[in-house]
Amino acid sequence: MVEIVPVAEDLAASYRECLDVVAREKRYLAQIEALPLERIQGFVCESVATDAVQFMAVEGRQVVGWADIFPSWAHAVSHCGSLGMGVLPAYRGQGIGRRLLQACIAKAQAKGITRIELEVRADNERAIGLYKSLGFVQEATKRHAMRFDGVYYDALQMSLLQSAA
Ligand SMILES: CC(C)(COP(=O)(O)OP(=O)(O)OC[C@H]1O[C@@H](n2cnc3c(N)ncnc32)[C@H](O)[C@@H]1OP(=O)(O)O)[C@@H](O)C(=O)NCCC(=O)NCCS
Repeated sequence: MVEIVPVAEDLAASYRECLDVVAREKRYLAQIEALPLERIQGFVCESVATDAVQFMAVEGRQVVGWADIFPSWAHAVSHCGSLGMGVLPAYRGQGIGRRLLQACIAKAQAKGITRIELEVRADNERAIGLYKSLGFVQEATKRHAMRFDGVYYDALQMSLLQSAA
């Protein structure tokens, strides 16, 4: 059974493995491998300490997906948060991404983040379908926003406003 839980320090290594698998697909994330474990442990400690909007999908203590929304630091944009997420290939299409995102949206809005924004590769139909189904709206297309192995891809900028949720 897959549960959605807040990030915790003992999940750091498994979270890194999950992130690494999705990054190495070289299709969905801007990064193509996970950062070293010490860096990830640092981020996770910081997330726990600040009660950040970061959730993990776990089966036992294996991380099979994650989602997070981190706020911008500067005053005039501190109501804005950036979304990132991923689910291991074998676990996709089972509603885990939806559960992760719903948990993140609820916590982000409770913490005063009234605008959630993201960028998604324009051919990532599953992610775009999920975002639209939860109320995200496309704002713009960024041309040639991503490049993998010398091939350019457009990306959509999407956002969810709390007043529209
Ligand atoms: C995008 C991702 C996080 C979604 O998680 P998921 O667990 O696979 O998604 P869910 O099973 O919760 O599906 C949620 C919704 O996505 C949409 N969806 C799912 N499969 C789809 C498909 N093949 N085409 C279009 N929309 C689809 C549907 O709206 C679905 O809602 P439904 O269950 O009511 O049909 C996951 O597929 C993933 O990790 N992809 C690779 C990494 C990635 O793209 N990260 C985001 C980068 S911006």
